[in-house]
Amino acid sequence: MNKRLVLGITGGIAAYKSCELVRLCVKAGIAVDVIMTKAATHFIAPATFQALSGRPVWTDLWDAREPKSMAHIELSRDAAGILVAPASADFMAKVANGFADDLLSTLCLARQPGSPLLVAPAMNVEMWQQPPTRRNKARLVEDGVVVLGPGRGEQACGETGDGRMLEPADLFAHVAALFAPKLLKGKRILMTAGPTEEPIDPVRVITNTSSGKMGYALAQAASDAGATVCLVSGPTSLPTPAGVTRIDVKTAREMFEAVKAQVAGAHVFIAVAAVADYYVKEYSERKLKKREHHPGLTLELAENPDILKWVAQSEKAPFCVGFAAESHDVLENAEAKRRRKGIPLLVANRAQDAFGRDDNQITLIDDNGRHPLPRGTKAALAREIVAHLAAMLDAD
Ligand code: CTP
Repeated sequence: MNKRLVLGITGGIAAYKSCELVRLCVKAGIAVDVIMTKAATHFIAPATFQALSGRPVWTDLWDAREPKSMAHIELSRDAAGILVAPASADFMAKVANGFADDLLSTLCLARQPGSPLLVAPAMNVEMWQQPPTRRNKARLVEDGVVVLGPGRGEQACGETGDGRMLEPADLFAHVAALFAPKLLKGKRILMTAGPTEEPIDPVRVITNTSSGKMGYALAQAASDAGATVCLVSGPTSLPTPAGVTRIDVKTAREMFEAVKAQVAGAHVFIAVAAVADYYVKEYSERKLKKREHHPGLTLELAENPDILKWVAQSEKAPFCVGFAAESHDVLENAEAKRRRKGIPLLVANRAQDAFGRDDNQITLIDDNGRHPLPRGTKAALAREIVAHLAAMLDAD
């Protein structure tokens, strides 16, 4: 694919953040054609983007540099997509209603079917909450435009609330996804992620320190690779990955029920969740009182269902991928686990390296043996796992 992005800049103070976005794209080898509205040039000069992108910046529908005077058509052809960041309330209104009275809005209207258009709104909180803006946002989504954010926080106007443009690194993740090879196109993937919580009484649970980051990164990578992803998630504080359907659960038994309800028709099942092996047999409706159990409390635990094993042994089982977090003898334990659960691919990692962190070190284990990967961010490792999985599915 042509590694080129069209980046639209509209009038908003967040335009300065888009300088960093251009820098990140260029660093990743992505050519960026910047198109600015007139209002945008009041906030930042075209020369800044020209210097950062190393390419001409376009501001005028009638620009004579484009030989056929068709900049609104030529610029978007062969580009991986158009990202408008920041997207003002006015610009969203224009695109939502099909207006085309300057280069950027005309370019958006003239894009080819299937060519991605992403917008990153940036505006004052009141503007964002006004009914016309909400209507325009809903219409854009209906028209297949991807609306990124906005984020929440302190605004340039001094107010606080929704309307901040997403940070450049977050926007870059969406740009990178545009260029991800569609290795899993047409595949339906069911996943579990995060910890589970097993209640003891109304205020206490048994859980573990899984943050869900690896599972969420893998859900994002699979979705970026073209898969339809359903993520059954234990409690985490993470945002739902773009394009992924998420089902929230708490206990292992709830997770099991959600998986059973979703598994029909899935091509792949990936169990990343750190499922609690046991639940508390006698849940107490009343909060347990210390003085009633002095000097110690004994909880009786019962075994939870093994979700991965159940799916792997079911009739018409999808291709199953498991994770093993081990504290010692990682690879030997992981190999035994893969055989025990009867699954073709297992991702082994050291629990101390993995839980709660942004990076990890993993080894993929399949019938051909061990495939160690160099330490990397969970996002980068997720892309490697997707590539390995796609190759195995192709060979299947
Ligand atoms: N898993 C699952 N359901 C469970 C337990 C585990 O689906 N009740 C899945 C996990 O999501 C993971 C894999 O099985 O993909 C391995 O999990 P792990 O807890 O390491 O395996 P256990 O079978 O519990 O083995 P052990 O306690 O001996 O480490």
